[in-house]
Amino acid sequence: MGAPGKFNRDIKIAPSILSADFANFGAECRAIEQQGCDWVHVDVMDGHFVPNITFGPQTCKAIRPHVKTVMDVHLMIAPVDPYIEAFAQAGADILTAHVEAGSHLDRTLQAIRAAGCRVGVALNPATPAETIAHVLDRIDLVCVMTVNPGFGGQSFIHAMIGKVARLREMIGDRPIHIEIDGGVTAETAPLVAAAGADVLVAGSAVFKGGSLANPGVYGDNIRAIRTAAQSARRNAQSAA
Ligand code: DX5
Ligand code: ZN
Repeated sequence: MGAPGKFNRDIKIAPSILSADFANFGAECRAIEQQGCDWVHVDVMDGHFVPNITFGPQTCKAIRPHVKTVMDVHLMIAPVDPYIEAFAQAGADILTAHVEAGSHLDRTLQAIRAAGCRVGVALNPATPAETIAHVLDRIDLVCVMTVNPGFGGQSFIHAMIGKVARLREMIGDRPIHIEIDGGVTAETAPLVAAAGADVLVAGSAVFKGGSLANPGVYGDNIRAIRTAAQSARRNAQSAA
């Protein structure tokens, strides 16, 4: 529940620990932060909303002391409401719930805010941007899934680029981050940065080739994604 820093749309890289060493989450979080990431993306999966199980609030609580930046918790669970307090108490800075996880999204988003976290909403690939048109004033972040949630290492769904641009239009000047989650690499990051995204989640593209024994590769991968996104954004802005 970190104090929200001043909002800005600078490109942020949020490695997903789904691709990290599950036996060493604390050390991995310290390593990616030392190597220059902006946020740490924590993928919670329940084996019900998505066909995979990762971990719950206790693991988030154990990770918290090792995250000095922002603990960005992505809840791929249904229902969400009964667990909000536990993840807030575990120290989540941002709690992101899926539109598709229940019938009462506005209530869920209010409950996340009331628990003291910044509020995120996530859209699966088939879910239109318009589904969040009436809750824009409740959120701090919208997460565009560019893969079907459940696993790392999947291929980026290019059809989502139009959704990113649409969301950028809908958001206007509101202080809402557009986060991209799934299949983000140095090749796909420019596409979404040019369309208006600012937070880029990357699991396999950050951790691939690196290790706790060789964390410099994490830094190289983070820099490659950031540089590609920043230059694409500059080109898009100068072309506008
Ligand atoms: C998928 C998760 C993503 C995933 C990203 O359900 O929400 O955060 O870990 O992994 P990559 O970057 O490998 O697609
Ligand atoms: Zn995620």
